[in-house]
Amino acid sequence: MSASVGVVGAGQMGLGIAQVSAQAGYSVVLCDQTVAIVSKAKEKLGGQLKKLVEKGKMAPDDVETVLARIRPAPSPLDPGSSELEACDVIIEAVSENPEVKFELFKRLDALAKPTAILASNTSSISITDVAAKTKRPTQVAGLHFMNPVPVMKLVEGIRGLQTSDQTFQTLRGFAEKMGKTFVEAQDSPGFVVNRILMPMINEAVVSLNEGLASAKDIDTAMKLGTNQPMGPLELADFIGLDTCLAIMEVLHKGLGDTKYRPSPLLRKYVSAGWLGRKSGRGFFVYST
Ligand code: NAI
Repeated sequence: MSASVGVVGAGQMGLGIAQVSAQAGYSVVLCDQTVAIVSKAKEKLGGQLKKLVEKGKMAPDDVETVLARIRPAPSPLDPGSSELEACDVIIEAVSENPEVKFELFKRLDALAKPTAILASNTSSISITDVAAKTKRPTQVAGLHFMNPVPVMKLVEGIRGLQTSDQTFQTLRGFAEKMGKTFVEAQDSPGFVVNRILMPMINEAVVSLNEGLASAKDIDTAMKLGTNQPMGPLELADFIGLDTCLAIMEVLHKGLGDTKYRPSPLLRKYVSAGWLGRKSGRGFFVYST
């Protein structure tokens, strides 16, 4: 694959994808709703990379090299925006909202060069549905990175109904160049990881709501009792409660089974703006 990657969405996932792409040598165009959001995200990345240097995990010169490879750009939805036109692969990592993603894919299809591959980092939304919004469904696939992107080894590749082998193998090579392990999942709600992980998180929230144990004790029980590095509620805070709710909605609607019904407490927290780590409060309180 040649050397230009577009990333749309500069939140926790998009920024991580931009970082690992730049570290793998690609030049990256990073967009969000405004250039100001991207510039702020890039500043945050600079701080994170400096911490890696302090810990001896990154050479000081590499910080500038990585940052220089990431170019902030306006939203592709802005009239006249053309920065993504030259990209060979464009990875969408905006909020887990089907309507937002569908609109974006229509736009990306219109502005990307004909050979470009369009990938979505969605946690649960159907890749076949996303691809159907474009005129290049064979060149659309899911590329689901895990959080935090620079640390987690896995990338789930998701083949939409019409995704071509060539597209899929190009994305496999791209993920492997970043040092990731690529697994292939079918296009079914939640794919593999979230089909299994999210019901566990939701059940932890249901348990909390029923007063089974405190949030701290639920997490301690699952950490020490099942050897997980993070308890399910802390993990939910880390992922973002809005994202967790959106994934449960997709599982519930897509699979039609009441066992996937999102916990009313999860809904309540999201309505209150308690989104987890990114908002400073979820099941636990964080200093932002
Ligand atoms: P986030 O809330 O940190 O970031 C989302 C970003 O998208 C925000 O910066 C927002 O301004 C931007 N955005 C929203 N609409 C936009 C538009 N129309 N154009 C450009 N930018 C737009 O969310 P996060 O956690 O980074 O999630 C992004 C995607 O990655 C979602 O699809 C999520 O399901 C998926 N994902 C999330 C994981 C997690 O642990 N948080 C893990 C794996 C996948």
